[in-house]
Amino acid sequence: MGGLRVLFSSVFLVSLAFIQGNADPVEEKRALLDFVNNFPHSRSLNWNESSPVCHYWTGVTCSKDNSSVLAVRLPGVGFKGPIPPNTISRLSALQILSLRSNAITGHFPSDIANLRNLSFLYLQFNKFSGPLPSDFSVWKNLTIVNLSNNGFNGSIPSSISNLNQLAGLNLANNSLSGEIPDLNLPRLQVLNLSNNDLNGSVPKSLQRFSRSVFSGNNISFENFPAKVPPALPSSSASYPKHGSTGRLSEAAFLGIIVAGGVLGIVAFAFLILVCCFRRKREDSLSGKLQKGEMSPEKVISRSQDANNKLVFFEGCSYAFDLEDLLRASAEVLGKGTFGMAYKAILEDATAVVVKRLKEVSVGKRDFEQQMELVGSIRHENVLELKAYYYSKDEKLIVYDYYSQGSVSALLHGKRGEDRTPLDWDARLRIAIGAARGIACIHSENGGKLVHGNIKSSNIFLNSRSYGCVSDAGLTTIMSALAPPISRASGYRAPEVTDTRKAAQPSDVYSFGVVLLELLTGKSPIHTTAGDEIVHLVRWVHSVVREEWTAEVFDLELMRYPNIEEEMVEMLQIAMSCVVRMPDQRPKIMDVLKMIENVQRRDTGNQPSSVNK
Ligand SMILES: *[C@@H]1O[C@H](CO)[C@@H](O)[C@H](O)[C@H]1NC(C)=O
Ligand SMILES: *[C@@H]1O[C@H](CO)[C@@H](O)[C@H](O)[C@H]1NC(C)=O
Ligand SMILES: *[C@@H]1O[C@H](CO)[C@@H](O)[C@H](O)[C@H]1NC(C)=O
Ligand SMILES: *[C@@H]1O[C@H](CO)[C@@H](O)[C@H](O)[C@H]1NC(C)=O
Ligand SMILES: *[C@@H]1O[C@H](CO)[C@@H](O)[C@H](O)[C@H]1NC(C)=O
Ligand SMILES: *[C@@H]1O[C@H](CO)[C@@H](O)[C@H](O)[C@H]1NC(C)=O
Ligand SMILES: *[C@@H]1O[C@H](CO)[C@@H](O)[C@H](O)[C@H]1NC(C)=O
Ligand SMILES: *[C@@H]1O[C@H](CO)[C@@H](O)[C@H](O)[C@H]1NC(C)=O
Ligand SMILES: *[C@@H]1O[C@H](CO)[C@@H](O)[C@H](O)[C@H]1NC(C)=O
Ligand SMILES: *[C@@H]1O[C@H](CO)[C@@H](O)[C@H](O)[C@H]1NC(C)=O
Repeated sequence: MGGLRVLFSSVFLVSLAFIQGNADPVEEKRALLDFVNNFPHSRSLNWNESSPVCHYWTGVTCSKDNSSVLAVRLPGVGFKGPIPPNTISRLSALQILSLRSNAITGHFPSDIANLRNLSFLYLQFNKFSGPLPSDFSVWKNLTIVNLSNNGFNGSIPSSISNLNQLAGLNLANNSLSGEIPDLNLPRLQVLNLSNNDLNGSVPKSLQRFSRSVFSGNNISFENFPAKVPPALPSSSASYPKHGSTGRLSEAAFLGIIVAGGVLGIVAFAFLILVCCFRRKREDSLSGKLQKGEMSPEKVISRSQDANNKLVFFEGCSYAFDLEDLLRASAEVLGKGTFGMAYKAILEDATAVVVKRLKEVSVGKRDFEQQMELVGSIRHENVLELKAYYYSKDEKLIVYDYYSQGSVSALLHGKRGEDRTPLDWDARLRIAIGAARGIACIHSENGGKLVHGNIKSSNIFLNSRSYGCVSDAGLTTIMSALAPPISRASGYRAPEVTDTRKAAQPSDVYSFGVVLLELLTGKSPIHTTAGDEIVHLVRWVHSVVREEWTAEVFDLELMRYPNIEEEMVEMLQIAMSCVVRMPDQRPKIMDVLKMIENVQRRDTGNQPSSVNK
């Protein structure tokens, strides 16, 4: 019996493997091989005919079912000469094509008109010449077009006006001439036409962009509005203004490294460039990471290592690779429990949070397993893990960026004059959302998953302004032990001596501390004027014991009438979460029900007097 089962299941496995082996898109593999075999290049690619395209070939991304190629990204491979015709154009489902920073010559490849789903086209920093395609309207979904830094000439085709999705158009540093057509592109956020031979004036539709977009041409600004309105308020504000210089230098630098055949020259150029561009490069994520202990060589060589890819989770619509990420302009968000967090703004203007994990205590397999587990959670109150990266030297995880900041920032950031206080409704929504998120996490992995690091700086607001929990499940793979007197330790249950020993009851304890924080407006560990260290839990206990309950509540909440009863109820829930004995704490599902009851009775609250 058992033997038969084993036999049966191994037959099953073999046939499964066979099916999966066949799932490789054969036709497209042929097209890619024709492409690379007919296109001289100086950097070797691991495109081995006998290995599967979808998971091994550098720069190739497939659809989820391996049936078609969605993205080809081959920046800085040292391609020389014209793109071999009838190769790339056979990848009919292609959405992203990046061949930037090569030495490609010839005309714009006319056959890519076949790629009807093309959305992102990056051909900047090549040596293309001749006219732009006259009919852009074949690509209905084009979102970003970057043809800058080439030798295109002729006029700007007015068919660009048909690209309803177009968000970014960069034609700078070419030899385009004639007048700028009237481009009615409501979604366009980023435009650059600088350094061409354009003449005439700026059409009305494009006058919302700044003059620098048109600089380096013979364009008259006579009827240009004196004060330029912002291109598009929300997103243009977050677009990196100086990031491009950082990226440019690295692209040039990568190009030189790759194209240069002679090692000595490469090393020399490398040194010069690293010196010259150090300042600018610091704007980029790779620059930021290098400020740690990474050498630039390591950053670059890593990105060429096919086995260490940025791994995306299902349904993730982001279109970038590790190089794009490293090149992105970045700013430091802060130091978290496990390492630094950065905000990175990608070429297409999306912002993501990149967390660099130090002190990962497990190997690649365990790391990946935990990431797959956490990454599979889809819940509106759990911050989605978008991608991760694991190599010997570097472990990164990528989340969406939330512009409102964490609950910690909302509660404790700039108290005083121009602050909008969080009202009681808002705090209730935060509490309910976070409790729902934690309840979801606790139900994962057969009801065994532990968050391990619940604190207000790991809680954000989702689109409905409910709490949303991030950083789930990281503690189990980290060796970090937070130092004894840190903010983080204020959330730690008394039984937790090592962060890896966190359990679901200790999550409930930490959540109780967050509730106290929402009620009191005080940090879990803070110092008084007399430099005395106050533990929030102990302090609340002592105040409540003296029956001064009303004293614990945040002064900011005191201006809302009729909420005291609810606050007292919430205080009781919080106190039940932070009891000393783990087995006496309620389960998170019960906590959630209790908080939802508080909200249900909530009768709405307006400030008693709007202006104090
Ligand atoms: C391609 O892969 C096969 C097996 O994986 C290996 O034997 C062969 O040497 C590889 N060829 C090249 C050119 O790397
Ligand atoms: C896609 O191919 C890879 C290997 O090439 C395999 O691991 C994966 O399971 C395949 N996915 C599907 C859905 O067939
Ligand atoms: C283009 O994309 C759509 C939707 O993503 C898909 O249904 C269609 O099959 C794609 N076209 C090709 C040629 O793959
Ligand atoms: C454009 O994208 C949408 C989804 O974003 C898809 O449904 C549609 O098929 C695409 N259009 C073309 C022409 O491929
Ligand atoms: C574009 O450049 C080519 C030479 O590279 C030249 O023959 C052609 O006339 C130019 N076209 C225009 C419109 O300037
Ligand atoms: C196009 O490429 C240039 C140079 O790499 C970069 O500065 C610019 O941000 C890109 N523009 C768009 C719209 O992607
Ligand atoms: C155009 O080239 C100049 C000089 O090489 C460079 O400073 C500028 O950033 C380039 N513009 C774009 C948009 O790439
Ligand atoms: C712009 O330049 C073209 C030649 O490239 C010329 O025919 C046209 O008259 C010029 N227009 C203006 C307004 O100067
Ligand atoms: C456009 O590119 C030029 C350099 O080619 C640069 O000086 C200018 O700031 C850019 N404008 C915008 C809005 O990016
Ligand atoms: C710039 O355009 C004006 C007309 O708009 C023309 O008189 C002038 O010669 C042009 N300058 C150059 C350098 O082409």
